[in-house]
Amino acid sequence: MAVPKFRLGFIGTGTITEAIVTGLVSREMPVPEIVVSPRSAKTAERLALLSEQVTVAVDNQHVVDAADMLFLAVRPNVAEEVVRALQFRPGQKVVSLIATVDHAILRSMIGAPVNLVRAVPLPFVATLTGVTTVFPPDVAVEALFSTLGTAVACKTIKEFEVLAAASALMGSYFGIMDHVVGWMQSKGMLQETARAYLTQHFVSLSTVAFRNPSISLEHLRHEYSTKGGLNESMFAEFNKGGGLDALALALEVVLARIQAS
Ligand SMILES: NC(=O)c1ccc[n+]([C@@H]2O[C@H](COP(=O)([O-])OP(=O)(O)OC[C@H]3O[C@@H](n4cnc5c(N)ncnc54)[C@H](OP(=O)(O)O)[C@@H]3O)[C@@H](O)[C@H]2O)c1
Repeated sequence: MAVPKFRLGFIGTGTITEAIVTGLVSREMPVPEIVVSPRSAKTAERLALLSEQVTVAVDNQHVVDAADMLFLAVRPNVAEEVVRALQFRPGQKVVSLIATVDHAILRSMIGAPVNLVRAVPLPFVATLTGVTTVFPPDVAVEALFSTLGTAVACKTIKEFEVLAAASALMGSYFGIMDHVVGWMQSKGMLQETARAYLTQHFVSLSTVAFRNPSISLEHLRHEYSTKGGLNESMFAEFNKGGGLDALALALEVVLARIQAS
């Protein structure tokens, strides 16, 4: 008996779709049929060249019609216009990657009783190392993202929103690194030397935290800060200067944006 075809469709062929499709075709397993929307022609063309399983649809409706699992991967500001124009099948699996549009609004835009799941994949899915948050739990969606790294199924919307807020630290991470490298350069250091040192340092620190999940981060902070030493001083000064308060506020602001949608 022939194996039934299972097609993935993507509305919005931008950064995150490119990362997912790149990951999907790089796995050591058969590539599913993938249909992407035609806008952003260069990206769509590039993805189609990755595998003969990837095709570019003539328009967005053709993506919806072809897809068993349909991903909404447009930016929030165009979501309403794009999604309302489409006809969905009752029961169709629709996975929205749009971080700031909630289930109720999505349902009203979709206008059909679809099987709706939200997910927050990160660009690292391209290298099969992405952690993807999923809500509500969904076996098929979790299985797909597990092959691109790790899938975290959230039991509550609150959990999903908090993880989505934490996921928005990517820009800040590189921003902090850039700031420190810039400071090192201002002290006469070569940019490449400063960057190479700092990135290796951060890799080591993340590796310690990753490999020791049972040791509290507070304990690690103390363990890696000699009493009265430089690390202790750095953290104390950072805190005194409002660094931790600024971080807490930024997390709250981003969470509020996610929850206001
Ligand atoms: N990037 C991430 O790390 C990430 C992670 C998780 C979730 N997300 C979410 O995923 C969504 C997409 O993010 P992104 O970073 O991939 O953005 P992006 O690179 O700007 O991609 C969005 C794509 O949608 C296309 N588009 C605009 N109008 C369209 C239409 N009418 N029909 C079909 N496609 C249309 C855009 O084409 P044009 O460029 O021609 O306008 C663009 O290629 C956002 O809602 C974001 O919150 C992103």
